[in-house]
Amino acid sequence: MAGDVTLSRGQWSTQFGFILAAAGSAVGLGNIWKFPYITGVYGGGAFVLVYLGCVLAVGLPLMIAELIIGRRAQQNPVGAFQKLHKPGSQWQIAGWLGVASGFIILSFYSVVAGWAIAYLFKSIVGFSGTSAEIQGQFGNLIGNAWASIGWHTLFMAMTIGIVLGGVRKGIERWAKILMPALIILLLGLACYGLFTTDGGAQALTFLFEPDFSKLSAEGFLSALGHAFFTLSLGMGAMITYGSYMDRKAHIIRDAVVISLLDTVIALLAGVAIFSLVFAYGLEPSQGPGLIFQTLPVLFADIGPWVSVPFFVLLSFAALSSSISLLEVVVSYFIDKRGWGRAKATIIMGFLIYLLGLLCATASITVPFRGKSQGFLDIFDFITTNYMLPIGGLLTCLFLAWIVNEKVIKEEFGSSGNLYKLTMFTLRFITPIAVLMVLLHGLEWLPFMDYVN
Ligand code: PFF
Repeated sequence: MAGDVTLSRGQWSTQFGFILAAAGSAVGLGNIWKFPYITGVYGGGAFVLVYLGCVLAVGLPLMIAELIIGRRAQQNPVGAFQKLHKPGSQWQIAGWLGVASGFIILSFYSVVAGWAIAYLFKSIVGFSGTSAEIQGQFGNLIGNAWASIGWHTLFMAMTIGIVLGGVRKGIERWAKILMPALIILLLGLACYGLFTTDGGAQALTFLFEPDFSKLSAEGFLSALGHAFFTLSLGMGAMITYGSYMDRKAHIIRDAVVISLLDTVIALLAGVAIFSLVFAYGLEPSQGPGLIFQTLPVLFADIGPWVSVPFFVLLSFAALSSSISLLEVVVSYFIDKRGWGRAKATIIMGFLIYLLGLLCATASITVPFRGKSQGFLDIFDFITTNYMLPIGGLLTCLFLAWIVNEKVIKEEFGSSGNLYKLTMFTLRFITPIAVLMVLLHGLEWLPFMDYVN
């Protein structure tokens, strides 16, 4: 095994570049696709409020923990746990879990992102036909393995192309293009929804006026689980991006800015989408089909000048996240195996692509949790419910209880009240919250009613 190749690892060229890249990782399908639909399913305002609480109590402290670990160790997730504890430390299992999660998540993330690109092309041509026909297009796409594979191939090729360019010339350069474009598109769409349709006011009420009678325990736990998926936590992505950070960068401030950007973007996506949904008198609780089935019916009426920017937005968000998933895997092979970036990116990207072929082929199903399911759903379930929570739990326990406090204080930049509050949260609140998500994923929470 080659030793640690710290010198050739690369570094962000500016702090702003780092913030855009990390926000790019956080802002993804989770914000534009998942957040609006789960908010719809779990009843709106009260869910949003709980979600904001979870970002503050679980997401932000965990992001600080990951950035501290990464920047201090200047290593990929596996190396980072060893370096901050001792060589051969069992804590490296957390890093391994992260690398494996990146590998598996990207295999299905790329398939869903491929659908977003497919819909971009569909919206250029324009949606037409009856509502049932337009909604049926989604079933046709996912049922047609060759089409799904084609879009997955295109998306993986773009992801690999960017990661090949390295930290500065690939990831950071593209984040500087994708993120501002994404923010402008989203602001435009949110303003369109708010000010020109009849649904704007209703969307704001739905999102920001909490009605706690609609909040279930299930909704609470989903908000918690989503908080760390959306912030890219629990799999070492922020450890990896943190490892390219400058010593002088201010970790706490950066973590706040990244979490805030991610949250504001999810809320704006909610405003944009629900304004349209309400303007057309539809129900917000459509589930995962919300943007691939419901919105296209509205887009057929509104026209491509809204649908094209929307699917460009979705594709850009997916791309800036997928590069971080691949970078976690690639950084391990560069640091620990001494591979060159080109070799690591092409070989690992190709292997992930192959695994994605299984996810793109909906007709391949296996028995899982009592029913026959496709690989996309199985991988999504295993990573979101087990691998990310376990990774997140180990990460916060490691920082809060194992890493030398002197090291943490140095990285934190102070030892005042903010430091004490963060450490208290990381020692007690975050682990308990993450443990609850995990037990819920295992259907082991005593106060929940699990019916299958
Ligand atoms: N945060 C991304 C999203 O919201 O779509 C998903 C993600 C990316 C999760 C990178 C984990 C990760 F490492």
